[in-house]
Amino acid sequence: MIHLDYTNMLAPGVKGGIPKTEWQKAEKLFAKAHAVLEKRRDAGELGFLDLPADSVLHAQSVDFVKRTRGKFDDVVVLGIGGSALGPIALRTALRKPQWNTLDAGQRDMRPRLHVLDNLDPTTITALLGRLKLERTLFVVTSKSGGTAETMAQYLVVRERLDAEQVAAKDHIIFITDPRKGALRPLAIAEKIPALDIPENVGGRFSVLTPVGVLPAALIGIDTAQLLAGAGDIAPHCLAPKLRDNPAGTFAALQFLADAKAGKHIHVFMPYSDALRDMAAWFVQLWAESLGKQEQKGTKHVGPTPLGALGATDQHSQVQLFMEGPADKTITLVSVPRRDKDVEIPKLHQNVPELAYLGGHSLGEVLDIERRATAGALARRGRPNMTLELEAVDAWHIGALMMLLEAATIYAGAMYGVNPLDQPGVELGKQFTYAMLGRKDAEAARKEWEKLPKPNPKYRV
Ligand code: PA5
Repeated sequence: MIHLDYTNMLAPGVKGGIPKTEWQKAEKLFAKAHAVLEKRRDAGELGFLDLPADSVLHAQSVDFVKRTRGKFDDVVVLGIGGSALGPIALRTALRKPQWNTLDAGQRDMRPRLHVLDNLDPTTITALLGRLKLERTLFVVTSKSGGTAETMAQYLVVRERLDAEQVAAKDHIIFITDPRKGALRPLAIAEKIPALDIPENVGGRFSVLTPVGVLPAALIGIDTAQLLAGAGDIAPHCLAPKLRDNPAGTFAALQFLADAKAGKHIHVFMPYSDALRDMAAWFVQLWAESLGKQEQKGTKHVGPTPLGALGATDQHSQVQLFMEGPADKTITLVSVPRRDKDVEIPKLHQNVPELAYLGGHSLGEVLDIERRATAGALARRGRPNMTLELEAVDAWHIGALMMLLEAATIYAGAMYGVNPLDQPGVELGKQFTYAMLGRKDAEAARKEWEKLPKPNPKYRV
């Protein structure tokens, strides 16, 4: 199971924590947020909550994997944002470390998984130069079916496949909206297989659709367990009482720490290499969902999420968390049960700096360091909480992702924003279209031209 220990979030126990009077009002705050979630759910807007039970959608991925088993050595996801961060997080969490460097036997004859989530030509050229196209599957993932970065990557890949006479319909699969966007008609016209992202599931909430599930299933992750974990925790994340609801509690704590205790930065810090990329996934979910203008007001709100890794960042960012501006909450993620641990040998018993370590295990030291960091932060008045995952396995990862997605909806309601949209990225997109000469971007081109031109006086 997953537990959230928030002892260190509350004042007066922790000096900079949420004031007692504010936490006493949390139940009411949550009740309103819960009502918003219920309303949006009834309106059919929160499709991510229904994914664990959608066996038809799950079968799309599983059947494709069965049909193509043994055909590919490499799978390349072309996608960005919510179309990329989920697959990356799942691979890091649920496959052996350094998956892509292992030989086929060590990978249980499953393919490598690459995720191209940027346009950098150096990366793309290097990867395409290494791949045997006739043994490669390209998964083109775009909910909108029109994202410039992903479409550009597709065009590059498509030309390469055509040039080498590798049939696109056997080496490309689209994952996209069932109706909208450019990929659907292309799929039909070119007989390219296409899997669905349900209409009511947006990019950063889509990891449990084929967006995350297909790449995961291709590399042998137990996707049934992933969905089972999400499905099992969902009722808890929908519970109407705050104290029974881990997602609501997470959201209320983070919101109150921001709004009532000045903690505008929310750090997510797992103590497990397997969860390193989960931090990046959470950062996008929290940032793109919550950082925006209030729906019924003019204020610009939203916390700034930050990823960190324990114990590595104890030697990088923790100094800042301890003694820098008191504007952060730190969510530590602990994993008490590890499949493999390594005992530290009892060598150099006469060297005090080494002797005390012998006989403990690496996992034990990592866990003790986490507890020590949490305690030290609390002692210095820096609020922190611990999300405890019994293990890093498919069930717990599915559950964790569902919990954080539901928390995002509650937090959106508390901040008074719509967590499902991202209007702030539109202008930059329009300017890009204008500069690239897209025909329908005339208005953006005019606006772009009104901007101040670079002034040599301000260039060094
Ligand atoms: O969360 C989101 O909605 C975004 O981050 C999208 O995932 C990202 O912009 C990519 O969009 P699309 O899947 O439409 O290509």
